Amino acid sequence: MIEIDKLVSEDGAYVSREIFGDADIHKLEMKQVFGRSWLFLAHETQLPDSQDYLTTFMGEDPVIVIRQEDGTLKAFLNACTHRGPLLCASEEGNATNFTCPYHGWVFGSSGDLLDVPHEGSSGWHNELNKERHGLKPIRVESYKGLYFGNFDEQAPSLDDYLGDYKWYVDAIFSPLPTGVEFLGGPMRQRLQCNWKVASENIFADTYHVFAAHGQAARICMEGKEGGIGIEENDDKEGDALGVAVTVNGHSMGLHFDGMGAYVLNKNMAEWMAYLGSQRENYIKHLGPRRGMMPGSSINGGIFPNFMFVPGFTFRQIHPLGPNECEIWMWTVVEKDMPLELKHEQVKANARMLGTSGLFETDDCANMERIDNTVSAYQGSKLISNYSMGLGREQKRDDLPGLTDQRMSDTGFRGYYRRWALFMKADKSSDIPLDAPRSIEGAE
Ligand code: FES
Ligand code: FE
Repeated sequence: MIEIDKLVSEDGAYVSREIFGDADIHKLEMKQVFGRSWLFLAHETQLPDSQDYLTTFMGEDPVIVIRQEDGTLKAFLNACTHRGPLLCASEEGNATNFTCPYHGWVFGSSGDLLDVPHEGSSGWHNELNKERHGLKPIRVESYKGLYFGNFDEQAPSLDDYLGDYKWYVDAIFSPLPTGVEFLGGPMRQRLQCNWKVASENIFADTYHVFAAHGQAARICMEGKEGGIGIEENDDKEGDALGVAVTVNGHSMGLHFDGMGAYVLNKNMAEWMAYLGSQRENYIKHLGPRRGMMPGSSINGGIFPNFMFVPGFTFRQIHPLGPNECEIWMWTVVEKDMPLELKHEQVKANARMLGTSGLFETDDCANMERIDNTVSAYQGSKLISNYSMGLGREQKRDDLPGLTDQRMSDTGFRGYYRRWALFMKADKSSDIPLDAPRSIEGAE
């Protein structure tokens, strides 16, 4: 019997390192967390045309996502219903049907079983009910062009699951009426660490930036004025310190500086010129407060494994057992951005947080070092500390969620409180959502 209350303190500030390496806990996570969360599948721009498809994972389950003729997106388990082989091994493409490589059953893009070899008297004697052997469908819902899947028909809607976090999602995925686009297929890499270790770093870890990335940041800042906005400075106060937010386990750290996402880029002036040219449009579309978010230093993510640092990386962490994960990374740009800047953004992402990026290697080394100790017996009995800023969170009138200054473990605590709720609950309706609030002046 796994006792979750002994693994995560009620406030989420202290977490047993057993949750980062124990095989039984991992197995339970697949059922309790990945079996009931809304999991990112695709952005609408990855599947623009009818019968476009891509393959991905929900937890450890292979999934295929297909644009239907009526424009909707459907998702299915990517497993043949006859005996179970992976049906589609390609990462993406366009196809009217999918043929199983084992015995040749043919499935349509709607998931229906269309054709079965030896269906008549030479084999099945017309006794196979094809209608009962379509691909296993998965519930799909979308918000601002982002499509998510959920294995649990009883889970709350995606809209409720995001709750007040939508206020922040809007600024990232819909900064202008034309929205954003995901460029190319994802870069992928495998890491020897638990999926939560790789996730929490982007979700909520502002604190590591100076120690882990100090040298890389200095190289990038050479010859430039100023800093990256989160330097240690006890004279700063108020929103100059940035904000950490948690809502329903989703997390965000943000400033409203309008530039922090691009200060490490090579041609910073070009980016500032672009942001300056769009600022009025951002404000018109999002209002004065959120209109400052595009271009600002931001990191965060949607529980449990989809995350972003706009200007640097958008990514999803797929679990592969308790001690391994696969990171998928996309470059995401505003659709209205000039083509040269889109190209620059691809290069900047690769340079910073691509598989061999300057910052990525810093992070990955630390993540695998965590796995070195938490997967060993004595090390697994230790407790990880997420108590920075504990007790300082507040509900502000002007921002959704529970907030603190940015250098705070608020986002981690929300994440692990949520994880514990999922792990303990018998059914989705037992997992409470943060009550939506109307925020004065938050437009
Ligand atoms: Fe797919 Fe037999 S396993 S057709
Ligand atoms: Fe980092």
